[in-house]
Amino acid sequence: MLEWLAACLVVVMLVMIVREIFRKPANFPPGFYLFGQPVIILRDYDLIHEAFSKTEFSGREQTFVIQNRSFFMGNGIIFGQGGGWSLHRRFALQQLHDLGVGRPRSELLVQLEVDALVRRLTASGGDLEVNTTFCMSGCNALLQLVAGKRYELDDPVFAQLVNDTDRVMRLASPGNILSLLPWVRHLAPSATGFRALCALRDTTCSLFGEIVEEHRRTLNAGKPRDYVDAFLIEMEKEGAKEKDFTKQHLEILLMDFFQAGIETINSTLCWAVLLLARHPEVQARLHAELDELLGANSLRWSDRQSLPYLQATINEVHRFGTVTNVSVPHFTSFQPVVFNDYVIPRNSLILPDIYHVHHDPSYWSEPERFRPDRFIDQSGQLVHESRLLMFGTGRRSCLGESLARMEVFLFVGGLLQAFHLELPPDAPPADLSPQAGVTYKPRPFRLRFRPRRPAAPELNVAALALRSEQNSYCIKRSSFSSKVHFKEEREI
Ligand SMILES: *[C@@H]1O[C@H](CO)[C@@H](O)[C@H](O)[C@H]1NC(C)=O
Ligand SMILES: *[C@@H]1O[C@H](CO)[C@@H](O)[C@H](O)[C@H]1NC(C)=O
Ligand SMILES: *[C@@H]1O[C@H](CO)[C@@H](O)[C@H](O)[C@H]1NC(C)=O
Ligand SMILES: *[C@@H]1O[C@H](CO)[C@@H](O)[C@H](O)[C@H]1NC(C)=O
Ligand SMILES: *[C@@H]1O[C@H](CO)[C@@H](O)[C@H](O)[C@H]1NC(C)=O
Repeated sequence: MLEWLAACLVVVMLVMIVREIFRKPANFPPGFYLFGQPVIILRDYDLIHEAFSKTEFSGREQTFVIQNRSFFMGNGIIFGQGGGWSLHRRFALQQLHDLGVGRPRSELLVQLEVDALVRRLTASGGDLEVNTTFCMSGCNALLQLVAGKRYELDDPVFAQLVNDTDRVMRLASPGNILSLLPWVRHLAPSATGFRALCALRDTTCSLFGEIVEEHRRTLNAGKPRDYVDAFLIEMEKEGAKEKDFTKQHLEILLMDFFQAGIETINSTLCWAVLLLARHPEVQARLHAELDELLGANSLRWSDRQSLPYLQATINEVHRFGTVTNVSVPHFTSFQPVVFNDYVIPRNSLILPDIYHVHHDPSYWSEPERFRPDRFIDQSGQLVHESRLLMFGTGRRSCLGESLARMEVFLFVGGLLQAFHLELPPDAPPADLSPQAGVTYKPRPFRLRFRPRRPAAPELNVAALALRSEQNSYCIKRSSFSSKVHFKEEREI
């Protein structure tokens, strides 16, 4: 408590001093200076779209916390920048593609997770606090593709990891005091969250370290099974160290996948079930649409064209909830940028206000209303809408977009096939304002998952199909040439 007070006092004093010292230059864009650091906020869709397609705007601030997160060695995909980042981003994209993201293999992995979740929710009965319900289910498909690992929904190690991640994500919201004033950690290691950050990094890395060791023991260089295998093979090549193909960097990259996956899918699914429970009329239409097309059959990714209202509803969930308002700020690391008559200084933080893009009353009618019909045209078809930025845009856009789209579709559809989503009768009145952290998620809530029909037999057939596929499965290699591009992009 005392250390908190001390920290606050120091901060207030600094703010006052700094405000006097730094004044905005004449052609400074909309934004402000925070402790001497220019912060630019982009609120307009076209500006965000244009800026984020430029290399100059795709840097990341290399703060102490971020560097310590990766033991000061290679910053992974979320926080890296320059040639090394670009190389690893392309490598990951390539691997995800080769591993079948967006194809039947990954669909089967997601379907099995939906099945397991439905079973668990059915068994739990009664009202449920929706806190970490979706974390493991959402993350499992990703972890299987990337690291060949799946956790049971009640695995204690995983539960602990999710709990720790949850806490750290709350602490590490943008503008976090440690990013601005790293030395405050000495004053208040606990209150600033520094201790928790380090502990999370250590437990996550040791967990992934074990997974990597297991892969190493069973590696067949001619038959990579997942991203980890492909990375281990790359590590054996000449010059691998200089390109950050090292075991420690692999652990950081796995942490990236894990942390990026867990928060976003959890928050999105939480928004979806909460909004549907609050809008029984939308739910009834979805039930009708699904039942008419599928009867008792499982939902497939290829069904999406025939389910425009479900797609519209998912778009509206993304728009309304805006899970990633800012996510990780961009940074002008390399040089000042002239942009739309403004001069943006070097070392500026660039924050997109995606919430504003999604709720701009000059574009959306009644933006604060949850209304999937806004994405349906007069002939009942889905309207193509480019102003949805849930996966970002440009050079830093979400790496896992195709997997995430499939997951959200199959989870929301699968839950609706299985349940009536209902608020408990004693639920408090709606508070749909987001809870800010790294992602924007709904405030804690309780929900009743009332089964719509007797439980179906387990998806054994699918599991078997998957196993036989894995046995004969070998990644189709498309040759990855790291050398050429690496040299070119290093100069940035
Ligand atoms: C989450 O909810 C479950 C019940 O659904 C409860 O047992 C558990 O303690 C909750 N966990 C946290 C961290 O609130
Ligand atoms: C989860 O985290 C909270 C703090 O955010 C802590 O109080 C609780 O004990 C943790 N639960 C488990 C099971 O570790
Ligand atoms: C998942 O979302 C719920 C609802 O917003 C939230 O209470 C919980 O903390 C989230 N868990 C994680 C790990 O983000
Ligand atoms: C990074 O964090 C660890 C705590 O895990 C700390 O011991 C170490 O001193 C930090 N590194 C630097 C350079 O401060
Ligand atoms: C979204 O982010 C922008 C930029 O940081 C911020 O100004 C705005 O208040 C945020 N929106 C919400 C609803 O918090």
